[in-house]
Formats: sequence, C-alpha cells, structure tokens
Amino acid sequence: MTSKDLVLVAGGTGGVGQLVVGKLLEKGFKVRILTRNAAKAEEMFNQRVEIAVGDTRQSATLSAAMPDLSHIICCTGTTAFPSARWEFDPPLNLIEWGTAFVNPKSSEAKAKNSPARVDAQGVSNLVAAAPQNLKRFVFVSSCGILRKDQLPFSILNGFGVLDAKQKGEEAIISSGLPYTIIRPGRLIDGPYTSYDLNTLLKAKTGGKYGVVVGTGDRLSGDTSRIDVANACVECIVHPSSSEKIFELVNQGSRPPVIDWETLFSQLV
Ligand SMILES: NC(=O)c1ccc[n+]([C@@H]2O[C@H](COP(=O)([O-])OP(=O)(O)OC[C@H]3O[C@@H](n4cnc5c(N)ncnc54)[C@H](OP(=O)(O)O)[C@@H]3O)[C@@H](O)[C@H]2O)c1
Repeated sequence: MTSKDLVLVAGGTGGVGQLVVGKLLEKGFKVRILTRNAAKAEEMFNQRVEIAVGDTRQSATLSAAMPDLSHIICCTGTTAFPSARWEFDPPLNLIEWGTAFVNPKSSEAKAKNSPARVDAQGVSNLVAAAPQNLKRFVFVSSCGILRKDQLPFSILNGFGVLDAKQKGEEAIISSGLPYTIIRPGRLIDGPYTSYDLNTLLKAKTGGKYGVVVGTGDRLSGDTSRIDVANACVECIVHPSSSEKIFELVNQGSRPPVIDWETLFSQLV
C-alpha cells in the first residue's frame, strides 16, 4: 500500500460494505464510496470518505467515481428473493406479491433492481468503467455458484441470484484486470441488512470461530460479515490473493490472530 492508494467501495452503505470502509480507514487507505444515496452515506461516514453518487445499472453514472483509483471492492447486492429492494415499478399490489413468488420470470421482468440487474449487469458495468491500471478488483460473490443443482443452493437460486453472481464473476475474470473473488456462505453478524433467518434472529458468532478458505466451491456454512470485510481488505494488501477465487466460512475455534497470508497462499 502507498499513501496514494485510493479504494472505491461499491455498496459501501451495505452491511459488509460499511465494515469494509471502517477496516480500510483503520489501515490508512483513502476511501471513496459509490452510492445511490449521498445523504445516507454522509450520515454514515461523517466526512471521513469521498462520496461518488452513482448507480451500477447506469454506466454513465460510474465514470465520475473512477479518477485516481488504485482498487475497487464491490459489495453491492440485493435480496435473493423478491422484496422491496427489487424496486418494483410500479409497486406490486398484494396479489402481484403472491404471484411474484411463484413466477420468477414475471417478477424479474417487473423489477428494476433484481439480482440480474445488480449482480450481473451492474458488476459488468463497473468492470467496464474501471481504470485499466487498477491494482485489484475485489468482488463479494457467493458460495454455491458451481452447485446450483444441489440443495440448498437450488432453492437459493430460484430467482437467479447465483446465475447473476456467476455472470458478474465471469465479467471480472475476462476483463484482464487483477482480481480476487470471495465467495462467502450465509452471512451472519451485523449490520443486519438481509431479509433472512440470521437477520430475524440477529444471529451472532461472538467472534469465536476461525476462518476457513477453500477453492472449487466445496465449503458451506455461515460467514461473519466482519470476516468477509476483513478478507476484502486483507486481500488488497497480500499479493498472494491475486487471481484467486475462494469460499470463505467460519469454522473451528478462532486463533488469537488470523494469518491471512497463509490462508491466501494455500489456495490453488
Ligand atoms: N445475505 C447472504 O447470506 C449472502 C450470502 C453470500 C453472499 N452475499 C453477498 O454479500 C454481499 C454483501 O451483502 P450485504 O448483506 O452486506 O449487502 P447489503 O447490506 O444488501 O448491501 C448492498 C449494497 O449494494 C448497494 N446497491 C444495491 N443496488 C445498487 C445499485 N443498483 N447501484 C449501486 N449500489 C447498489 C446498496 O446500496 P443502497 O443503499 O443504494 O441500496 C448497498 O450498499 C452482497 O453482494 C451479497 O449478495 C450475501
């Protein structure tokens, strides 16, 4: 890292994104966040970051976020299943909400911020807008990309979230930019931004579990948002994580210090 390193966090107002921003500032990076909501970002980060207003679905809004960047960390996302975050336009009535859950194709067609728009098209747009001399593009993807025909991933992919994440991954890999792709399991610990059971129960790991990484999409389990954020930031300071795609879950007991260099180096 140099004093000139400036990291763009796309989705910096999200659960993982907020933690990424905090970790980057702690390590002395300059941070710019890409957000659709400047007021929310200003309140959240109290002038400690630069704010670029943009929407990954709209390529023309991204160029203003790109000058002088050294790295991009992309933590954008939406819900796997239809929700208000899909931004139905016009908003759905009660009957349409019912049919949205049984007919993935019709709900997708009416949604403005579905996984296909955010995780596939949005990520491709961000890749296309990225500076050619970028040091690293880090992407928060998901476990299950290569197991879409197996439970529970076949259910998770009912509305195409894993298909969309895979398209995002492919855009990054084929771009020629240096990259790291992190595939977490089901997110646990706050900030609680999902609409799932872990969020409902405010499930916590208590910081007791170790970090396990693997390749080939074979690991499953819960992953603390804190460790996803730690991995995003640690991988830009460890060259051994470049051009790596790995799952990240919490298992076993946590050592006093997580040795990220060893974790990244063991990935093949
Ligand atoms: N939940 C899980 O169990 C799970 C499992 C594996 C992987 N993941 C992935 O982990 C990542 C982080 O999850 P999270 O729960 O921390 O996410 P989150 O809280 O839902 O945050 C998503 C972020 O994406 C931004 N965003 C959404 N649409 C956008 C658009 N069109 N243009 C620009 N920004 C946009 C949101 O900003 P706004 O404030 O503007 O909406 C928000 O900052 C996501 O990529 C998610 O898919 C989640």
